Amino acid sequence: MKRSPTSRLVLAGSLGLLVAAGALTVASTADAATTLGASAAASGRYFGTAVAAYKLSDSTYSGILNREFNSVTPENEMKWDATEPTQGQFSYTSADQIVARARSIGAKVRGHALAWHSQQPGWAQSLSGTTLRNAMLNHVTQVATHYKGQIDSWDVVNEAFADGSSGARRDSNLQRTGNDWIEAAFRAARAADPAAKLCYNDYNTDGQNAKSNAVYAMVQDFKSRGVPIDCVGFQSHFNSASPLPSDYQANLQRFANLGVDVQITELDIEGSGTAQANSFAAATRACLAVTRCNGITVWGIRDSDSWRASGTPLLFDGSGNKKAAYTAVLDVLNGGTTPTTPPTTPPTTPPTTPPSGSGCTSAISLNQWNGGFVATVKVTAGATRLNGWTVNVTLPSGAAVTNTWNATASGTSFTNVSYNGSVNAGASTEFGFQGTGTGPSVSTCTAR
Ligand code: G3I
Repeated sequence: MKRSPTSRLVLAGSLGLLVAAGALTVASTADAATTLGASAAASGRYFGTAVAAYKLSDSTYSGILNREFNSVTPENEMKWDATEPTQGQFSYTSADQIVARARSIGAKVRGHALAWHSQQPGWAQSLSGTTLRNAMLNHVTQVATHYKGQIDSWDVVNEAFADGSSGARRDSNLQRTGNDWIEAAFRAARAADPAAKLCYNDYNTDGQNAKSNAVYAMVQDFKSRGVPIDCVGFQSHFNSASPLPSDYQANLQRFANLGVDVQITELDIEGSGTAQANSFAAATRACLAVTRCNGITVWGIRDSDSWRASGTPLLFDGSGNKKAAYTAVLDVLNGGTTPTTPPTTPPTTPPTTPPSGSGCTSAISLNQWNGGFVATVKVTAGATRLNGWTVNVTLPSGAAVTNTWNATASGTSFTNVSYNGSVNAGASTEFGFQGTGTGPSVSTCTAR
């Protein structure tokens, strides 16, 4: 089901964008970093983005993703219609691609979403009662088990409360299976992947209102009865009709006080220029002021990637250039100390082994499981700068490469893409690939 932005955003909250200053935990001047992820990491937080698998082959998109973000949320690929299009038949190809990319760039994964009234496959939409309840629980179990150990946080249940002043649950086929469907989903997720943090995620809950009060009461109840819940996500889709609420920070804080982590999970703010930059800065500041607000995710990379692209609500323009909003967010993450020019690269230690005649070396690190693998390959330049490279690997018999990132594959030969062919003397870059069977351990690198 597709909603228009205006129908899903409530006219609520004041126009005031100021968020009360709190005890900021930020990077010191010396730590000021030049990417969103690194700057957020300086205070133990992540800065993430929603990712669409089909865009990973776009080099501008991928270049920004790899450079800036240390958490990813699959935008649509882990939803019920994508992962179980036919009952009992699971389809993980696109979501696996995103998880593999996240792993290759050292980013966390926010799983989104196990149980939701929207984007259900047709077969689930036509079920009801116990049959639907069991199908939902099986779905939660299967998907959380498939990704066991790879998900930092799961949006276990998404958008289960009604908009407006009722404070009621949203009417949906899942709600009609019984009021305890939410806790049943959380229990199933915990059993399947005990290490993942389990979150409830919603929109129009960003300030204190009837809807957020109802979610608050549910979380309080879950905590008192031992229902497993670790975090609450605040989607934070803002525009002029639904601006950043003046009590945003206070609302995050009251949930944190219940003993859960809080995250900004789908941030986008329609607008442009200074006004937009100020709102993004205020949202970031609010998270930093709440100790248990441990991550911010923007809902897409470039404006053109947004589900509401016409509102230009993101940090990069359609060409991938940083907007004023980007600089404002980075500056807040750095405590107002963002360097205006990138710091000079620290001197690199020359390789202890002399560069080979080929001008580069490569090393494979392998994550192998029964039937499949992810290989991460580090390409290191020799004594002279590389302007391009090719790595050939030897695959054990029966193995096959299914998916590659940060390189172009031709059989077992991998060549740089536009943004990582140039590697300074002694410096390194990484690419990766996923496959079936047993992964390779032997590779040779050739400069081009
Ligand atoms: O993939 C098909 C394509 O084959 C087809 O030609 C095309 C025609 O419309 O549709 C494509 O699917 C679209 C899909 O996005 C992928 O682009 C769906 O129609 C479209 O409905 C779907 O929209 C997604 C929306 O959730 C669905 O509710 C947005 O991308 C996604 O950003 C949005 O994300 C939600 C969060 O999950 C929950 N919170 C709100 C947020 C914004 O609505």
